[in-house]
Amino acid sequence: MTDTTRQDFLDLNLFRGLGEDPVYHPPVLADRPRDWPLDRWAEAPRDLGFSDFARYQWRGLRMLKDPDTQAAYHDLMVELRPRTVIELGVYSGGSLVWFRDMAELMGFDCQVLGIDRDLSRCQIPESEMKNISLREADCSDLATFEHLRDLPHPLVFIDDAHANTFNILRWSVDHLLHEGDYFIIEDMIPYWYRYSPKLLTEYLAAFAGELSMDMVYANASSQLERGVLRRSAPKA
Ligand SMILES: C[S@@+](CC[C@H](N)C(=O)[O-])C[C@H]1O[C@@H](n2cnc3c(N)ncnc32)[C@H](O)[C@@H]1O
Repeated sequence: MTDTTRQDFLDLNLFRGLGEDPVYHPPVLADRPRDWPLDRWAEAPRDLGFSDFARYQWRGLRMLKDPDTQAAYHDLMVELRPRTVIELGVYSGGSLVWFRDMAELMGFDCQVLGIDRDLSRCQIPESEMKNISLREADCSDLATFEHLRDLPHPLVFIDDAHANTFNILRWSVDHLLHEGDYFIIEDMIPYWYRYSPKLLTEYLAAFAGELSMDMVYANASSQLERGVLRRSAPKA
């Protein structure tokens, strides 16, 4: 029953549109049978009947990357063979396991680091933590990143927490990224472009000559739209 007397409300931004439940549940078809009769083939609903984002998973862990995004990251992993993947924003942890497993399947060593201000929602079992490390910290505080300086390259740095992004990008360009490394801003560029086009354009231009947009991956999925940035050769 709805509690109409409720006085305390969580900040829904906490969930960033993910839903409150970090546990993966297989899709349930509440409004249609799974086995549709073929003598009514033409009447079958064409939509999924459940939230598509909720069904994205890797080995039973929710993973908030859609199949196009997974395919693009797969191709980037094949091409770059990163020795380090850092992801800001862990949530249930499925994507960390996915990056670790991809590297293992492709046969190269890769350490995967996840940073989140709330690791209580991480679902990775202890037995699945090989080559994965977690750090509970807030991205708003640049001191969070100081321990990242001496990591193996090539390196992919993914912002999927969306807090303090451009200051983190500045820090990464100054202290972390080598030529050919990636900084990837997931999901947010279309929103920022919609609501703050001038600032976004100005902020990105501040990195001209230091980063470029990799046009192979920058439009490979809507989640990666115009947010795949590659470190250029440092100025001589
Ligand atoms: C979109 S989810 C991450 C999803 C995950 N990368 C994936 O692909 O499955 C965003 C996460 O960012 C975290 N987050 C939000 N603001 C943060 C901040 N200021 N510092 C650290 N983590 C933050 C949230 O706790 C949440 O778990």
